[in-house]
Amino acid sequence: MEIVKTSITDLNALRNLEKTCFPLDAWPLLDLVAVLSFPGVVRLKAVENGQMIGFVAAETRPHENTDWIATLCVHPAYQRRGIGSQLLEACESQLTMPSTRLCVRANNTAAIHMYQRAGYLFIDTWWKYYRDGADALIMEKRLRQPSYEPYRL
Ligand SMILES: CC(C)(COP(=O)(O)OP(=O)(O)OC[C@H]1O[C@@H](n2cnc3c(N)ncnc32)[C@H](O)[C@@H]1OP(=O)(O)O)[C@@H](O)C(=O)NCCC(=O)NCCS
Repeated sequence: MEIVKTSITDLNALRNLEKTCFPLDAWPLLDLVAVLSFPGVVRLKAVENGQMIGFVAAETRPHENTDWIATLCVHPAYQRRGIGSQLLEACESQLTMPSTRLCVRANNTAAIHMYQRAGYLFIDTWWKYYRDGADALIMEKRLRQPSYEPYRL
């Protein structure tokens, strides 16, 4: 398995992977095109035997002074092999803001365990965020100290 940059040429592969991994929340085609082509997005895929088996993307939100993990998934046949954690770590290593945030379905215990193991903490709940009325938990990891000097009296 290797983790490499991805691009719009992976649109079909990502579409299939997303449908398999997110039966309730698969992104519409336009969102997939955007995540594979917009500037400033970190987008990485996990590849084994020439097949995309995992994907992660993150965007920078300078006005919030944070990066957001937009999506992260691993094909069910390849889960529990550490690939999700490796994708997350590889993505984080390319992010520049002091903290990284993400939202996750409140009942997605697999993902929540993975994020907690990676150092993410709960900071908020977005009630009824998903189309089916499920709540979203917001998690945050502080990756580095803020780059500004603390104000001194
Ligand atoms: C969440 C997801 C990306 C995890 O990928 P993965 O490659 O299986 O994760 P890892 O193997 O790196 O697991 C890391 C840790 O997360 C936890 N974890 C992962 N899957 C779990 C499960 N099914 N149940 C409980 N804990 C789980 C474990 O603590 C695991 O460590 P361990 O295997 O040493 O016990 C994967 O389950 C997935 O794609 N799910 C569907 C899409 C999704 O929900 N994405 C997250 C959206 S916010």
